[in-house]
Amino acid sequence: MPGIGRTSEVTGQAADSGALPGGRAAVIRLLAEVECRDPELKAHLDRVCGLSLLIAHRMGLGGDRLLRLRFAAILHDVGKLLVPEGILEKPARLTLEEVRRVRRHAVHGEQILKAGGVPLPVCRIVRWHHERYNGKGYPDHLRGEEIPLDARILGVADAYDAMTAVRPYHQGVNFRSARRRIAELAGRHFDPQVVDHFLSLSGAASASFRAGGALPGRAC
Ligand SMILES: [Fe+2]
Repeated sequence: MPGIGRTSEVTGQAADSGALPGGRAAVIRLLAEVECRDPELKAHLDRVCGLSLLIAHRMGLGGDRLLRLRFAAILHDVGKLLVPEGILEKPARLTLEEVRRVRRHAVHGEQILKAGGVPLPVCRIVRWHHERYNGKGYPDHLRGEEIPLDARILGVADAYDAMTAVRPYHQGVNFRSARRRIAELAGRHFDPQVVDHFLSLSGAASASFRAGGALPGRAC
């Protein structure tokens, strides 16, 4: 499904459905800002959005639910615009304080979207995209199905992209290793059902989302 989740498709679909009238203008404005300030972050958002939608499609999700996931995925890391670049690209281990600052991007993202008039369910997915199935994620330590399904899907897609990315502080792993690692983390970091659907995608399909290349920037 080449191209799925690209910005123009996301915003175009929103315009057609009218399901997010208050949030559409804010989403378009924020995407333009991300693209201008951090093109690599924008590329990450595009890839994660595409893969999230592919997984959701496999799971039979559609309609407004899919649209909500599109909006959340295409902006899930927008809060990183408020994290100092020196921390995001630091080619060494982060201090505890730096980790804390990076992790705040989930809450910053929620706040930015809320301020733009994006509907609450979308803002919540952004807030919770780093929660873990075993309750050891952040910022609210939700566990299992307390985490909305959209956020559980986004979490798998985001982790896959982070694992396969080349960053200043680590070489990305190949897509086979990333798929294996995600399988190992099913039930701990990730919803096992979401992982099953992710793994049911062909290797070529999941690998294609790395075609955009390297991604500087942390995904703590
Ligand atoms: Fe993130």
